[in-house]
Amino acid sequence: MTQHQQDSAVGTTSPGPELGPTGRPSREFPDPAALASHGPARIIALCNQKGGVGKTTTTINLGATLAEYGRRVLAIDFDPQGALSAGLGVQTHDVPTIYDLLLSRQFEPKDAIQRTSVEGLDVIPANIDLSAAEVHLVTEVAREQILAGVLRRVSADYDVILIDCQPSLGLLTVNALTASHGVIIPLECEFFALRGVALLIETIDKVRDRLNPAIELDGILATMYDARTLHSREVLERVVDAFGDKVLETVITRTVKFPDATVAATPITEFAPEHQASKAYRQLARELVFRGAVA
Ligand SMILES: Nc1ncnc2c1ncn2[C@@H]1O[C@H](COP(=O)(O)OP(=O)(O)O)[C@@H](O)[C@H]1O
Ligand SMILES: [Mg+2]
Repeated sequence: MTQHQQDSAVGTTSPGPELGPTGRPSREFPDPAALASHGPARIIALCNQKGGVGKTTTTINLGATLAEYGRRVLAIDFDPQGALSAGLGVQTHDVPTIYDLLLSRQFEPKDAIQRTSVEGLDVIPANIDLSAAEVHLVTEVAREQILAGVLRRVSADYDVILIDCQPSLGLLTVNALTASHGVIIPLECEFFALRGVALLIETIDKVRDRLNPAIELDGILATMYDARTLHSREVLERVVDAFGDKVLETVITRTVKFPDATVAATPITEFAPEHQASKAYRQLARELVFRGAVA
């Protein structure tokens, strides 16, 4: 008996496929085919008005793994806290940031784009200046469409643009949703995870009605999952009951490696390439290509 057969023989009474954490048969998604050419980008917002659910971590590591698979990726730091910029180790002061691109047409997006340690993953940084943007944008013409206008100018150079949203449903997040083809909602497997998701979905529906008819919910990503706790398993079960196939099959487990990678200012996939979390983010990249959310 192989180790794998032993593992699946223990604890299962009826034969059948081994089930993954979302209750569907576990499977490996195929490696994405190489791309013959690049762009235009599909734009995806990572969005949840709750903080600490894994938006930034997912933007960094999904960006890095898609780049590993040969995709050209641009990550947009759209949170004044600048955690994405810090996590990718790029400059945020004395350089043009996303704030400058929103506020002035004097800047070209390419002036603000920085390379990261990951080949194929670029970033437009943010800093605390961005917190003033909402106030300035309120009086602009078509104030919800300003980010979309900025991203149109770089879309041809990338296969995917990931927007790391701030934890709010204000004008910046509405700009992100208006600019996007798809949304991924990271959801922490914790008490009250579902609280607030209805309001987020309502916001997405309003944006679809009024500003961006094409926007799709690409998926709900369960994060901070701990298979050892009944609680985590119950939360995930409720999420699957509520959202069915919209729940991505890939689940991100809670691990202390993430804070370590944050300190190292690098994706976990570079910091600990063989760690289970790195493998999970590769699986997420493959699943999104398989589902057609990414080229
Ligand atoms: N799967 C995980 N396991 C453990 N810690 C995580 C995980 N994902 C993220 N973290 C940590 O949790 C904190 C919040 O994550 P972050 O991605 O910044 O959330 P958000 O952007 O939604 O506020 C960070 O310190 C991050 O390192
Ligand atoms: Mg964040």
